[in-house]
Amino acid sequence: MKKTSLIILLLSLLLVISACSSGSSNQDNNVSDELPVFTVAQLAEYDGKDGRKAYVAIDGIVYDVSNVSAWNQGGHQGLQAGQVLSDEIKNSPHGTSVLSRLPKVGKME
Ligand code: HEM
Repeated sequence: MKKTSLIILLLSLLLVISACSSGSSNQDNNVSDELPVFTVAQLAEYDGKDGRKAYVAIDGIVYDVSNVSAWNQGGHQGLQAGQVLSDEIKNSPHGTSVLSRLPKVGKME
């Protein structure tokens, strides 16, 4: 009787451990690993003009600014969407604090 209980306990433990490890690997797959990769040329297609989406890349991540009114037609303070703007945002009045509100849509090659 004691042996049976021990075996059941061990089997339950094994089940819990395998459930936990498969759960965490699923979570890992949901992070930036699944974002599409852009080349500089592909990014340039998302300039926000004539109804196109407006994307900008900062420190290797591509953000969607299409729905930001301050980025109307992909233009913003003399800048144009479809480009890598890592240095420009660091020299802007708001800095990188605005990025947390933007959808991440890709990463740079
Ligand atoms: C020379 C560089 C830049 C300057 C001088 C600048 C300046 C400004 C200013 C004055 C605003 C407020 C405008 C308004 O509310 O109408 C603003 C808003 C904003 N900027 Fe920039 N910016 C620069 C670069 C960038 C870059 C590279 C990004 C990249 C994503 C960016 C993202 C945003 C966003 C998302 C807002 C809207 C914030 C909100 O509505 O809360 N900016 N910027």
